[in-house]
Amino acid sequence: MLEALAEAELGRGRTHPNPVVGALVVSSGKVIARGHHERAGGPHAEVVALRQAGDRARGADLYVTLEPCDHHGRTPPCTEAVLASGVRRVVIGSVDPNPLVHGRGIRRLRAAGIRVDVGVLGDACDAANEMWFKFITRKLPWVMLKAAVTLDGKIATGSGDSRWVSGRESRMLVHVLRDEMDAVLVGVGTALADDPRLTARLPRVAVGGSRVATGVAPRDPVRVVVDSTARLPPTARLLRQRSTAPTLVACTLRAPPARVKALQRAGAEIVRCRADRAGRVDLKDLLRRLAGSPRSWSRVAHASTGASSRAGCGTRCTCSWRPGWPAKAPSPGPDSTGPGGWIRPLARASWTAAGWATICSSRQGRWDRT
Ligand SMILES: NC(=O)c1ccc[n+]([C@@H]2O[C@H](COP(=O)([O-])OP(=O)(O)OC[C@H]3O[C@@H](n4cnc5c(N)ncnc54)[C@H](OP(=O)(O)O)[C@@H]3O)[C@@H](O)[C@H]2O)c1
Repeated sequence: MLEALAEAELGRGRTHPNPVVGALVVSSGKVIARGHHERAGGPHAEVVALRQAGDRARGADLYVTLEPCDHHGRTPPCTEAVLASGVRRVVIGSVDPNPLVHGRGIRRLRAAGIRVDVGVLGDACDAANEMWFKFITRKLPWVMLKAAVTLDGKIATGSGDSRWVSGRESRMLVHVLRDEMDAVLVGVGTALADDPRLTARLPRVAVGGSRVATGVAPRDPVRVVVDSTARLPPTARLLRQRSTAPTLVACTLRAPPARVKALQRAGAEIVRCRADRAGRVDLKDLLRRLAGSPRSWSRVAHASTGASSRAGCGTRCTCSWRPGWPAKAPSPGPDSTGPGGWIRPLARASWTAAGWATICSSRQGRWDRT
């Protein structure tokens, strides 16, 4: 199952809005075929592996990280391919939480006389698809809040520059993250201060980039600017650059129609959201719209100064920092520890510290919502 999980990882960031899934066909203790789900609309992992095995699948074992589906979606039910292949046993990692599948695939295979073992490395298989599980069960995107902070909790230097707050490796990880996420979201303050591109610009040798190892080109996420009154200038780099992914501007009814039109002419897609009590974009409403759009963006990275952690939108938070920087505290940049900041919501009971890592000169901390 570990090998099937590694196979599943080859599809990470490309299967949207589907889960990552890997499968192996094993005969006499040897892997004779393997496959992963590459993209939505393409064949599912078990079908890829079974096709590769052909007649050799007869009497073999099929390992698959997620329960095979038993309904017609964009492809026929995988259970039919499994039954036709003649495998003797099916070993499953996760039970599919999708209400359309949930246990149906397992029951169908068992009813046909196939031995089915469920929950093998179940926790690891569930973790591989935690983002998709939230999306499919709650119709909300899985949100990662990310920030680079100084040792004294600032998110930018005194001049407002946030690029050099963390180390080189942390910045590279941001590009890996963008490549894997469906959407990346910033406040209009960041768009105005930094004029960012928010594209995935991965060098040839990236940290942990399975995609780089397999030679697949990086992919840009959809970019979302939270901008209640459409203050983003149509000349912003987000709208002028070449990218296969669109830039969305989320605003409220307060946004003047002329500014909205100018942004649309510049290529922006406008998402009209409800206003929160402060008259700003209601972030929960925005997330529901992202998940519910026909393109169902289900994994969102939010580089923000704390609004979404306060609004209860994040599932995971990562902070990165450069040890020993700045040498003199307090540094003069915008504060992330103030009432609008990052650190305070993380100290609340609803977040638990989940891990620490050192990558060359950068440190990473991770918190999960409990
Ligand atoms: N170190 C890091 O990782 C990192 C990450 C991101 C940004 N930054 C830095 O942060 C600075 C910009 O910070 P910022 O304070 O301007 O924050 P921001 O999150 O970039 O933008 C804040 C703006 O977003 C808009 N907004 C719309 N709906 C909102 C909502 N529900 N809640 C909160 N804001 C909402 C508001 O403008 P409207 O009311 O007009 O809509 C608000 O003024 C820059 O210097 C940037 O470099 C650092």
